[in-house]
Amino acid sequence: MRVAVTGAAGFIGSHLCERLLAAGNDVVGIDCFSDYYERTLKEQNLAGSRSHDHFLFNEADLVDADLPPLLDGAEVVYHLAGQPGVRPSWGNQFDRYVRDNVIATQRLLEALKGTPIKRLVFAGSSSVYGDAEMFPTKESALPRPVSPYGVTKLAAEHLTHLYTRNFGTPAVSVRYFTVYGPRQRPDMAFSRFMKALTAGKDIEVFGDGEQTREFTYVSDAVEGTIKASTADVVGQVFNLGGGSRVTVNQVLATLEEISGIKVKRQNLPAAPGDPRHTGASINLARERLGWEPRVSIREGLSQQWSWFHESRSERRP
Ligand code: UGA
Repeated sequence: MRVAVTGAAGFIGSHLCERLLAAGNDVVGIDCFSDYYERTLKEQNLAGSRSHDHFLFNEADLVDADLPPLLDGAEVVYHLAGQPGVRPSWGNQFDRYVRDNVIATQRLLEALKGTPIKRLVFAGSSSVYGDAEMFPTKESALPRPVSPYGVTKLAAEHLTHLYTRNFGTPAVSVRYFTVYGPRQRPDMAFSRFMKALTAGKDIEVFGDGEQTREFTYVSDAVEGTIKASTADVVGQVFNLGGGSRVTVNQVLATLEEISGIKVKRQNLPAAPGDPRHTGASINLARERLGWEPRVSIREGLSQQWSWFHESRSERRP
């Protein structure tokens, strides 16, 4: 089957491409190499897919590219492209979030309108919940983001839904909960923690470290995304959460055990835009997608720690 992945050079997108290629699909990857982080890291993310005969890569920006030729023949489109990151989405940066998350999604939806695609999977975010009233949080909870980023992800998710409602676009959304693992973006917590720990520097903790996250290992997120492309669930939204909530302090204790390095920490003020807690009810994904997260936080953190050191030694001359 021919499929397309937007955001193919990103953290989750690059893993998704490899998984789809391994399953025998022809994969069209689309990415504009936005400057949110270094292009060289994104090129490294793509290397595995690029070496595959059934991978075709297009460097293109969804907002201004001529999309129909790029998407031609794709039966499934996985839309992961976007401007990520909760904390930098304030001030002047907001324009970029609106452009890359809302306008880009609208352009993609317009390009897919009336085409015979079988499924569009939109990569949504736990950040749409903001400070949720109930944990674990169900998909039916009132979304009330606490960051500008979350507002743009929610807007894009709603856009996807209304193209289903008005034009029959066969779309489904998944809401990822703080995904981690090899290739995690350099601005995200575990990448920053590992970099500081290795350099003997203080780990910067935003707030008291007692905030919780439902961290989700990347292979689990990818598996749920693929299941969302095949199950009979058009028009629905699914939480993809790793299966348990842990505090940032617990993560640091586990990282200390895994690395054998004593953590030095510096507590900074809590960051505007960060929800205090996230926690996913994953019953819907279990029941309707037949999906179950498999990788524990300790196992996943060990995998990311190993990858972090391997990729660093590869980069050193
Ligand atoms: C992550 C992604 O960055 C978003 O793109 C995504 O949309 C979101 O998950 C999601 O679930 O949808 P976040 O939860 O902030 O956002 O992920 P991390 O950067 O890994 O932060 C996790 C926790 O560690 C947060 O409470 C944050 O305040 C804390 N943190 C992060 C620190 O204490 N220090 C740091 O240096 C970085």
